[in-house]
Amino acid sequence: MARSGARAKITGTGMKVPDQVVTNEELAERMDTSDEWIQQRTGIQERRWIEEGETPAGLARGATEEALAQAGLEVADLDCILLATLSGQHDFPGTSFFLHELLDAGEIPCVDLRAQCSGFLFALNFADSLIVSGKFERVLVVGAEVHSTGLDISTRGRDVSVIFGDGAGAVIVEANHEAGDPGEILEVRMHSEGKHARRLWIEAPSSAHRPVRLTHEMIDDGRIFPKMEGRYVFKHAVSRMPEVLLETLGAASVKVEDVDLYLFHQANLRINESVAQRLEIPEDKVFNNIQKYGNCSAGSIPMLLAEATRQGRIQPGQLVSMTAFGSGFTWASALTRW
Ligand code: UT7
Repeated sequence: MARSGARAKITGTGMKVPDQVVTNEELAERMDTSDEWIQQRTGIQERRWIEEGETPAGLARGATEEALAQAGLEVADLDCILLATLSGQHDFPGTSFFLHELLDAGEIPCVDLRAQCSGFLFALNFADSLIVSGKFERVLVVGAEVHSTGLDISTRGRDVSVIFGDGAGAVIVEANHEAGDPGEILEVRMHSEGKHARRLWIEAPSSAHRPVRLTHEMIDDGRIFPKMEGRYVFKHAVSRMPEVLLETLGAASVKVEDVDLYLFHQANLRINESVAQRLEIPEDKVFNNIQKYGNCSAGSIPMLLAEATRQGRIQPGQLVSMTAFGSGFTWASALTRW
């Protein structure tokens, strides 16, 4: 059913990545892989990794500051902070609390949201609902990820470790009192299917593991590193992404050809090419940055949005569609008008 009444809009976007660039050649020095394999299978040329002293919350702060400046707002203007991540800075409290501290955010409520690579779109949907319900006026939505400190940087973990990078993106979502303002959120749809949870996951530490969550054996066995059934995940991504994208466009009565720009989760360039091909979306309508940053999970979509904005790829009146797929499995799509 199409939405009516109050709406929310994105008024600011921002992103922050660490300065340290890690090339495919550098990874090939530490494991049995090659620049050719990584580029052919994923499209990734390099990624960013944090250095000593950098944190997920620090990246989130960088992205937030750009988004706030773009929106012409200050931290004190925010009503709520939602932060999506799968790589929490600590087990608890959530990364959003360390961001809260860095932002000196007073007593504004903050919370982490765990929906992996679809996390930003899930959080955007919740922000949209909080605003449309009249509960809040201005919500900060962040996707922040530091993968580099949790990867198996050896041949054993090469399928996973070559694809992930560190980075954060942020948006400011505000109530849209004048319908039709730029950045209006027209629709967001989201789905989950927990039966695939172990197809892409980190097993340990685990609060279900007795008597303690983490053992030396778990570390020695590499159960602390992400494990992925790559082809299985790939196969689901290329069918679920078009599905939820079409569901979202359909709910807004928008046709595939009416959309001006498509932002897909940056997990693998081949996934995005396949989704575009299935929906007959021309190449020049798809904006990717995986070549430079790899897969930043919940950070990827807001980073794309920020970079597309920085590069002037989003023009007034244009329709921008965002779609993600990730561990869980989760998949989601949002449609916005600028
Ligand atoms: O972000 C959340 C969602 N994640 C995704 O959507 C990721 C989905 N999956 C993928 O993107 C792909 O499955 C990968 C990029 C992870 C792997 O690509 P693939 O084309 O599916 O390769 P594969 O896993 O089927 O492996 C093919 C071969 C294997 O060797 P054999 O058995 O054919 O001898 C692997 O051992 O490639 C080998 N391989 C590698 N070789 C060099 C796996 N990783 C690497 C590597 N370098 N890094």
